[in-house]
Amino acid sequence: MNVLVVGRGGREHSMVLELAKSSQVTKLYVAPGNGGMKEQATCVPIDELDMDGLVSFAKEAAIDLTIVGPEAPLNEGIANRFQEEGLKVFAPTKEAALLEGSKSFAKKFMKKYNIPTAEYETFTDVEKATAYIEEKGAPIVIKADGLAAGKGVVVAETKEQALKAVEDMLVSKTFSEAGSKVVIEEFLDGREFSLMAFVHENNVYPMVPARDHKRAFDHDEGPNTGGMGSFAPVPDITEEHIAYSVENVLQKAADGLMLEGRPFTGILYGGLIMTEAGPKVIEFNTRFGDPETQVVLPLLKNDLVQVFVDILDGKDPELEWEDASCLGTVLASAGYPGPYKKGAVIPTFPAVEDMYVVHAGTKFEGDTLVSDGGRVLLVGAKAANLQAAHQKVYQVLDSMNNDNYFYRKDIGLK
Ligand code: AMP
Ligand code: GLY
Repeated sequence: MNVLVVGRGGREHSMVLELAKSSQVTKLYVAPGNGGMKEQATCVPIDELDMDGLVSFAKEAAIDLTIVGPEAPLNEGIANRFQEEGLKVFAPTKEAALLEGSKSFAKKFMKKYNIPTAEYETFTDVEKATAYIEEKGAPIVIKADGLAAGKGVVVAETKEQALKAVEDMLVSKTFSEAGSKVVIEEFLDGREFSLMAFVHENNVYPMVPARDHKRAFDHDEGPNTGGMGSFAPVPDITEEHIAYSVENVLQKAADGLMLEGRPFTGILYGGLIMTEAGPKVIEFNTRFGDPETQVVLPLLKNDLVQVFVDILDGKDPELEWEDASCLGTVLASAGYPGPYKKGAVIPTFPAVEDMYVVHAGTKFEGDTLVSDGGRVLLVGAKAANLQAAHQKVYQVLDSMNNDNYFYRKDIGLK
């Protein structure tokens, strides 16, 4: 089969690394990809949002299966377009992707189908939103309705912060249209975990849970980022919590979307929080998580191409997971998530068994691979348990001495 992956980050490189292992893949392409993927795939310089370009390429290169990484093209209807052109694609339509694309849609949907989540109200009017915050007090959470590249959520510790967030979104339009509607919700306290599943219509095949580390610095300090590291599975989330979440979150969501006439095909991602009253949903994503994918896929024993093919054919892919742990730490450009420099030489890492490097923001300048983004790469390791995986990753990272980069030292320790 000829396979095309759409996207350019670490999540996509992680998919590419797995797909490249499949004996069924003849040619593997990524659009647009990044420098670090060149060993496994052919990068084609087509933007993720260039639908015409992607469709023409898929036809020219006789692509048999396309997999889409990021949310923006899903929201733009890439799956609809590929289906209309008779091209096989493992991705949700824009109607199904609204579960991630609109927080107010997702909240209403969860209420309707009795999926556990925080209490909330939706507002477009700043005075009504202000009155609600005055009534509820802090802590309270303000969310821009639309896609805001992971930056549209403010967890306000004080009423003043909450009022400012609402003002920024509804009046100053800091997220433009994405913030012209806001969801204000109850603050939930507990440990977070991400539970992803391969989904086709009513069929839900869960993966192992993972935990992301969103803050920039150790001990969860500093600003939010796209994710500074992750691990899987999550020891403090029990089999019962997982079974409960599969049944009450992922299965209910898949079934609800069928009933709404928005059948889902693709990866459904539940961002969950373990409250005293059980797991509750913080957000749904309609794609693989980043950097969760980088620690979940290496634990999958199945051939990933076969998994996609089976699921699209309505067959159970019979997922099998290694009885091991994966942990990954992101190497970021100094200064990230604030201003940072690009173009630093990518360090080379000693080869250690079951250690891997996933590229996110790298490119070639001549023959040299250099940094090309805030999150540059992820150093991951697989081991018998979390502690051993942590040791392996940090043995490699701590031997590096390079002021162009920084990383969190505490991934997997909490
Ligand atoms: P999101 O962009 O939706 O992933 O939200 C970013 C982060 O905000 C989440 O990972 C949580 O840490 C936090 N968050 C979102 N909603 C809530 C909530 N209702 N209660 C507590 N924390 C939240
Ligand atoms: N790791 C969170 C996300 O992919 O949205």
